[in-house]
Amino acid sequence: MIMITATEFKKRRKQISKVIGNDSIAIIKARDICLRNGDADYKYRPDSGFYYLTGCHEPDSLVVICPDGKKGDDILFCREIDPKNVIWNGPMLGLKGAKEELLFDNSFEINYVNEIIPKLMLGRDKVYFMLGVDSEFDKQIVEWTNAVKKEKWARSEAPHELVSLKAIIDDMRVYKSKEEIKCMQKSADIAAQGHVKMMQACRPGIYEYNLNAVFLHSITNHNSQASYLPIVGGGENACILHYINNNHELKDGDLVLIDAGAECDYYASDITRTFPVNGKYSKEQKELYDIVLNAHTAALNKAKPGNHWNEPHDAAVEVITQGLMDIGLLKGDLKSNLEEHNYTQFYMHKTGHWLGLDVHDCGEYSVDGLWVELEPSMVMTIEPGIYVATDAKVPKKYRGIGIRIEDDVLITKDGCKILSDKLPRTTDEIEELMRKKT
Ligand code: GLY
Ligand code: MN
Ligand code: MN
Repeated sequence: MIMITATEFKKRRKQISKVIGNDSIAIIKARDICLRNGDADYKYRPDSGFYYLTGCHEPDSLVVICPDGKKGDDILFCREIDPKNVIWNGPMLGLKGAKEELLFDNSFEINYVNEIIPKLMLGRDKVYFMLGVDSEFDKQIVEWTNAVKKEKWARSEAPHELVSLKAIIDDMRVYKSKEEIKCMQKSADIAAQGHVKMMQACRPGIYEYNLNAVFLHSITNHNSQASYLPIVGGGENACILHYINNNHELKDGDLVLIDAGAECDYYASDITRTFPVNGKYSKEQKELYDIVLNAHTAALNKAKPGNHWNEPHDAAVEVITQGLMDIGLLKGDLKSNLEEHNYTQFYMHKTGHWLGLDVHDCGEYSVDGLWVELEPSMVMTIEPGIYVATDAKVPKKYRGIGIRIEDDVLITKDGCKILSDKLPRTTDEIEELMRKKT
């Protein structure tokens, strides 16, 4: 199932090695298992940064990258295969697997970290790690550097600088490789299919959780899982941006906004569609929908190399503001509505974010006050919306309508490719699809 090869993971570790240099060491720990309640754990998912560098799915693991290290550049500390654990929890990687399957130069049992890591630190100036992610681990790093100093003769050989590794890994993760793009395409395809199934299963009288179940059934059948808790907001629930209760009845005449993505090989998709519960958009729903769709198109047109991060957002905001003025939801002129941010009562979030191993993927949006420039192989979402609160001072017919259209977009050499393009987007296409009910 893993599409990213061990060679690609190895290449990433080599890249870290090159960037930090021979006077440094990098140490990255896998996140711990998280207890849900009683003695039941949450399903284990390695944190994205650790997985990105290792391809390792196991807790109790830690990677050390020590450029030009005598014992090799990269070392995985992990659990040795324990036959009893295998009986309860299935196959384990083990020390041999770390070298043979994941191409580590060396591997040690995780229990030996305290003994070995200070030795690996000896003679290195800087320790790179994910500073500030896990305060216990921050302390552990300090303890290891202090352990080097304990030996009098080694005092001057102890690292004297602790540096965050985050910016280095984040910068790498922003550019997706061919294999990563394949994973993301797969993830988008699977989610798109789940959305189609929800559109076709929808009818008045069912509950939001019924559509949630349709989505989960569809993606689970592709050996995938939700990349975040799905939002299934019928009627005015669509205006609650992070609505996850999904427990209301879907009413004839209402829209339902569904924001749901799949995770494949740890890569996320993040897709939103808003469709009529009864299969037909009302006049007002279509008016607002088409404004959002035009904003989506305007943003897409700006999603190309050379443009800066915020250009798609600026374009979407302008179309939404003009559209709201055209139907009388905003008064005044375009310039002042934009300058005074009057549109934020109806459109209060950004038009997108980076997408990858995390739904809101790592990576800067601006550096030193300047927006980041879009470049080929970056992946982002485009997700404009309009949300009219139930108490908004607008004609009653518009109140309680919430609409978002969200797609996953790869920046290419000439522009962009919509990874989630298999899912219809226009009102005509969606109504047509909903006529083919299951
Ligand atoms: N699903 C979360 C988001 O759209 O950002
Ligand atoms: Mn999103
Ligand atoms: Mn979303």
